[in-house]
Amino acid sequence: MAEEKRIVLRNYGKIDPLSIDDYINAGGYKALEKARSMGQKEVIDEVKNSGLRGRGGAGFNAGTKWGFSYSTEADQKYVVCNADEGEPGTYKDRIIMENDPQSLLEGMAICGYAIGATKGFIYMRGEYPYVAEIVQKAIDQAKAKGVLGGFDIEIRLGAGAYVCGEETALIESIEGHRGEPRFKPPYPGVAGLWGKPTVVNNVETLANVPVIIEKGADWYKSIGAANYPGTKVFTLSGDVVNKTFFELPTDATIRDVVFGMGGGIVGGKKFKAVQIGGTSGGFIPESLLDTPVDFDSMAKIGATLGSGAVFVMDEDTDLIDVIERITKFFEHESCGKCTPCREGTKRMHEILQKVNGGNGTADDIALSEKLGKVMSRACLCGLGQAAPAPFLTTLEHFKADYDAKLV
Ligand SMILES: Cc1cc2nc3c(=O)[nH]c(=O)nc-3n(C[C@H](O)[C@H](O)[C@H](O)COP(=O)(O)O)c2cc1C
Repeated sequence: MAEEKRIVLRNYGKIDPLSIDDYINAGGYKALEKARSMGQKEVIDEVKNSGLRGRGGAGFNAGTKWGFSYSTEADQKYVVCNADEGEPGTYKDRIIMENDPQSLLEGMAICGYAIGATKGFIYMRGEYPYVAEIVQKAIDQAKAKGVLGGFDIEIRLGAGAYVCGEETALIESIEGHRGEPRFKPPYPGVAGLWGKPTVVNNVETLANVPVIIEKGADWYKSIGAANYPGTKVFTLSGDVVNKTFFELPTDATIRDVVFGMGGGIVGGKKFKAVQIGGTSGGFIPESLLDTPVDFDSMAKIGATLGSGAVFVMDEDTDLIDVIERITKFFEHESCGKCTPCREGTKRMHEILQKVNGGNGTADDIALSEKLGKVMSRACLCGLGQAAPAPFLTTLEHFKADYDAKLV
């Protein structure tokens, strides 16, 4: 079974999060100093060569993303940290920010130096006011110590919309507009916040950066899966013994997560399914538990690694009931900007309500499947594109559960 390896949680429980001196004594801000002694392009290449890919869900190479902003000429550039963490069951970014806020600030400052940005924003989930207090204190201490140099960081709080975690809706929200996604391209790296080149990275992605600069790309690349190196922080919930968080190398398997670190199913019951990556994640049956958790291996089985939220379900779970609730969530959270999502999430919820209530037919299931396939291709942003995944994957792996409820 895979064993825990802490990179982003390196200081967890070892330092006082409210003491910048503790962070510095643990080696903090050495990486920023080192980065500033390197060329900007050299820093970007180090991050690119490390293979670090986004931990917020889309899995894009972080250094490549930084390269877009670096090579776009502008009078102002921005670093935005995505701390929206709206995915139900996910709390890894909170753990990082509560326990080691300076590591995030250092990662942002390194990115700022690399792309030539003097301003950073942390867009934080509105439900985390107590985390914002900790991070604000950390910012104040870093400013007072002068470690950030000319790089300024401000916090912006969200207002509870799931879609505001989508990077362009997030940018709209910071600008003071309704949180609705933009058409892409242009991508934020080229034209983001107020039309300026903007790197948007997740908290966990940025917390990896100081260690990569300090220890080098080759060291990082040697950990975990070849195509998605490093570690991943997982948060477990549902019918699992250890409802907790941990950090594993990315070559661990789903079985390592659920039965190794997770300790298996509560009460000695049998495993039924696991959903990874949050509400839009695919449902995974027992036969696929030996799949590695890295981004590409998960994509191959129609699932996602996403944010690393792990929702475990035992043999007594009514999957169709779970799916009905999920479709309700997406109907509620759809921003309404594009028709396939606004209408599709509503109709899919209606059909699932009918099926779960024992009034659905095989035709209803076929219609919903068609609808889901259209949505995954036609919706404007990842919310609508991923919304049908739980339905489609349960239909693939647990068809008997649907059949049992049909008239
Ligand atoms: C509906 C929706 C919600 C999202 N929520 C989050 C979130 O809470 N946190 C996050 O980091 N990324 C979230 N993302 C992904 C972001 O759009 C983006 O890919 C990410 O911030 C990029 O950072 P990374 O490359 O470091 O992962 C969401 C995407 C969608 C479509």
